[in-house]
Amino acid sequence: MLGVCYYPEHWPESWWERDAAEMAALGIRYVRIGEFAWSRLEPESGQFDWDWLDRAIEVLGSAGLKVVLGTPTATPPKWLVDRYPEILPYGEDGRVKGFGSRRHYTFSSAVWLRESARIVTAVAERYGENPHVAGWQTDNEYGCHDTVLSFGPEDLLAYRSWLRRRYQTPEALNAEWGNVFWSMEVVSFEEIELPVGAVTETNPAARLDYWRFASDQVVRYNEMQASIIRRLSPGRFVTHNFMGFFHDFDHYDVSQSLDFASWDSYPLGFLEVFPFSEEERTRFTRTSHPDVPAFNHDLYRGMAGNRFWVMEQQPGPVNWAPWNAVPMPGMVRLWAWEAFAHGAEVVSYFRWRQASFGQERMHAGLNRPDRVPSPGGVEAAQVGAELKTFGPLPDNTPSPVALVFDYEASWMTRIQPQGKDYSHGEISYRWYEAVRRLGFDVDIVKPGSDLSSYALVLLPSLPHVSEAMLASLKATDAVVLAGPRAGSKTRNFAFPDNLPPGPLADLVAVKVTQVASMRPAQHAVTGLAGGHATRWREWLETELPALSTFEDGGAAVVADGRFIYAATWPEADLLNEILTKIALPKTGLTPLDLPDTVRIRRRAGLTFAFNYGTEPWTVPHADGKRFRLGGATIAPQDLACWEG
Ligand code: GAL
Repeated sequence: MLGVCYYPEHWPESWWERDAAEMAALGIRYVRIGEFAWSRLEPESGQFDWDWLDRAIEVLGSAGLKVVLGTPTATPPKWLVDRYPEILPYGEDGRVKGFGSRRHYTFSSAVWLRESARIVTAVAERYGENPHVAGWQTDNEYGCHDTVLSFGPEDLLAYRSWLRRRYQTPEALNAEWGNVFWSMEVVSFEEIELPVGAVTETNPAARLDYWRFASDQVVRYNEMQASIIRRLSPGRFVTHNFMGFFHDFDHYDVSQSLDFASWDSYPLGFLEVFPFSEEERTRFTRTSHPDVPAFNHDLYRGMAGNRFWVMEQQPGPVNWAPWNAVPMPGMVRLWAWEAFAHGAEVVSYFRWRQASFGQERMHAGLNRPDRVPSPGGVEAAQVGAELKTFGPLPDNTPSPVALVFDYEASWMTRIQPQGKDYSHGEISYRWYEAVRRLGFDVDIVKPGSDLSSYALVLLPSLPHVSEAMLASLKATDAVVLAGPRAGSKTRNFAFPDNLPPGPLADLVAVKVTQVASMRPAQHAVTGLAGGHATRWREWLETELPALSTFEDGGAAVVADGRFIYAATWPEADLLNEILTKIALPKTGLTPLDLPDTVRIRRRAGLTFAFNYGTEPWTVPHADGKRFRLGGATIAPQDLACWEG
């Protein structure tokens, strides 16, 4: 189903009815509204103005549309900030971030929690049982504009309490953090400082705990909003719109208080901000890299209930990337179908109409400011028409491959990358890309998930292997491929007593005795799997034979039964050979021979194919296939779907 983000407060009321009728005609079923409207809902403290929103919801509902109501907490109004300046967040530089844009609050402020609960209660009391309201979005994009970590006085107080609960005594904290190093010991929790603003690097263990603390604050904040909504709005769903490639808090934890996760898909913007090469950015400027939307779909599907929405879908150029291209004709349609293929229940475009004012005036919508459909709007209408004849999509079925993605791993490698270009997000993406290029569907799962249904499990880079993670690896028969730094740290960032891979030594008989990060270059690896390694190298002490080696004879890849260990960051060529020559033959899975710009995704009895390239692609063995969309030859920026 389709949806759209709409801001009735941005437009003359006389436009609403036609807007609603046009949305319905386009095939839109859900309209998300309200998430930035606090100044219109409560123009002065305690003075609520509901009338306009009452009417807006009525107009939308009367056109047959269902409303997703956003709580307006991403934009505290000026009067609130003036009255309670302690709600404002602080940067790492110790400077307060003031009013004038959005997300100007810290999760640590008790006053902010109280004020948030107050406005959420007021909105939910008013609309909780409105028949047109189908569900709720809490806040908007937690963490957007770097707002998970704040470094102000409120944060320091909350952090100290969090540490007190966690460690009970300063002695325990000193021991866990290793504070004897550089005389960092404290005698009370009041002596704890924020882990920024020191002469040089602060203790990595302290920074990791700061990140955990900040993540817990987001969890607690979402729980607060969700529980108010559930009490006042029975039978409606609660979701939140997460961001793509954003790992600053633990999304699995936050999702526990949601019915399902949503995320905001801006494929061309992400191409410019994720660490792709310039060659890739140039090549895919107007389509995005073929795994950008899919990686995030598969991640967010795994958050809660095996379901997800795309709450915001790019309709044309955005305004926030270094360069903002127009999508190639066909891509706005392709991205929607790709989301459905990966299990999205709703794809909701951001936004109905481009605004001619405000920070986002350069951001396209489905309609131009003059009320004429944009090229993206025309493609969305095509999707709407196609969905009508397509009928319901089947359930999501498990994939043969699982990729373990861990937020703490991301924080650990950002706190201590050790090599300038070591990025957990990037290695996770590249491993995902490698299996998707071989035609496999992938589930992205949290550490400790049940892995028993998978044939292949990927651990691209997981420094801390928890007991639950180890148990799930022991309990599956899947072939496991683990990458560099696996098991290299304890929960509190120390080396494991037995050296890396720590607890994984139960499964792969190696000991990592030395590591090096490497300046940008390609290092040849030869053997059963050949190609190039980059960025990271480990030295292994092991009786296991090396399946692939570096030029100096050092092991690059070893296997212990079904457990394969890559002691380096494999480039695409080497990773492909590790998969096709070592891992897959142990699984019974057969890879597909696809061009590097075509992706396949199955959903129960259906197969979808998407062409991100510049050449047509012919579906193999097309004769006899029953096509539900497209046909045997898929043009560039086009797709097909067949039964089977
Ligand atoms: C999202 C945000 C929207 C809008 C959009 C522009 O990050 O949720 O409010 O700013 O980006 O692309």
